[in-house]
Amino acid sequence: MSDPSPTAFFAPCPRGLEGALADELRALGAGVTATPPGGVRFEGDVRTGMAANLHSRIASRVLQQVAHAPYRSEDDLYRLARDTAWERWHAPLASLRVDTTAIGAPVRSLQFATLRIKDGIVDRLRERVGERPSIERQRPDRRVFAFLDAGRCTLYLDWSGESLFKRGWRRDGVDAPMKENLAAGLLALSGWTPGTPLLDPFCGSGTIVVEAAMIAAGVPPGATRPFAFERMLGFDRAAWDTMRRVAPRPAPGTASIFGSDVSEAALAATRANLAHCGADPAWVALRQLDVLHLDRAPAPDGLLLANPPYGERLDVKGRQSLAQADRFWPAFATLLKQRFAGWTACLFTSDLELPGRLRLKPSKRTPLYNGALECRLFRFEMVAGSARRPAPPR
Ligand SMILES: C[S@@+](CC[C@H](N)C(=O)[O-])C[C@H]1O[C@@H](n2cnc3c(N)ncnc32)[C@H](O)[C@@H]1O
Repeated sequence: MSDPSPTAFFAPCPRGLEGALADELRALGAGVTATPPGGVRFEGDVRTGMAANLHSRIASRVLQQVAHAPYRSEDDLYRLARDTAWERWHAPLASLRVDTTAIGAPVRSLQFATLRIKDGIVDRLRERVGERPSIERQRPDRRVFAFLDAGRCTLYLDWSGESLFKRGWRRDGVDAPMKENLAAGLLALSGWTPGTPLLDPFCGSGTIVVEAAMIAAGVPPGATRPFAFERMLGFDRAAWDTMRRVAPRPAPGTASIFGSDVSEAALAATRANLAHCGADPAWVALRQLDVLHLDRAPAPDGLLLANPPYGERLDVKGRQSLAQADRFWPAFATLLKQRFAGWTACLFTSDLELPGRLRLKPSKRTPLYNGALECRLFRFEMVAGSARRPAPPR
């Protein structure tokens, strides 16, 4: 792990965020080499790999590429795994998990391919270090990811451990929160910078406003969590401690971040999450409010970024005020036009018909995936004068 020569890495991310992740990694000094669907390939040294884990807000993981070769059969997969120098990174007695993804691969089953790769790794380690790693599915010390296409196999060593979207701040128990790296990606795609007022009027557990507060405060997303590379052989603890000790650098300007939600339970979750994110919770102003009762925008201009309710989530239990979807969306559009002239509204949703329901024309539609679910980030410029009635005095 202390080898100074450039290492090839792959950082997977939610599909649609590859460009934003590439920009983020370049800013960390990585040499981006490709942006295939679902991730970014980059080169860098050991410090770049550690920095990507500590600072990337958009990556799901950071993987080191350790083998890449043509194959035809499961026996070739076994040989490739056995010919890879796992003993360079894998501490004796560390436990192991192997996961395989395949697209058009000529293998009998993914399970069998995974088994052969695992056998190759185990046999190599038994030969070279005299120890056989145990296989552990729940909390492995080391994870290996294999990617198979029609003719080539790539083996990756995972540097992250738990997925990078798990920053360690989430305390809530609300349903279906957005993943933290998706929220950070939406902030990047929306072009938000900490000097711009930000409002999420459907904030739920607060993922968007918490991520924004961390960006404004300069708190690294991985500031308090552990990483798998810390348990790899040759881990450079001195370099890591130095990198981690750098104090957060707040962004210039004052952060104006606002969150609201009709549900008191959602706001309680947001408050709990904010208290653990490392940024000053006072930077985020929270209100319990039905969005349709918002009487004014919190600033003359800014970014409204939200993941609005869709389908059954519009119907919050015990709330009479929530209208049926067919009345809600036109009323929300009227609110945007009347109260948010001068703002940009970015709405992330799996409801691909949302602009039609709002009767608003998006200036941009960015395709994104939330797991396997196809979504869009719709961008609406709320131009002053588009309202039927003038905006209220501010
Ligand atoms: C898809 S969730 C947002 C999830 C959020 N991004 C997160 O990461 O936790 C939609 C939220 O809209 C809220 N909501 C539904 N109807 C609302 C309304 N009329 N006004 C304000 N909030 C509403 C729900 O309580 C829910 O928290």
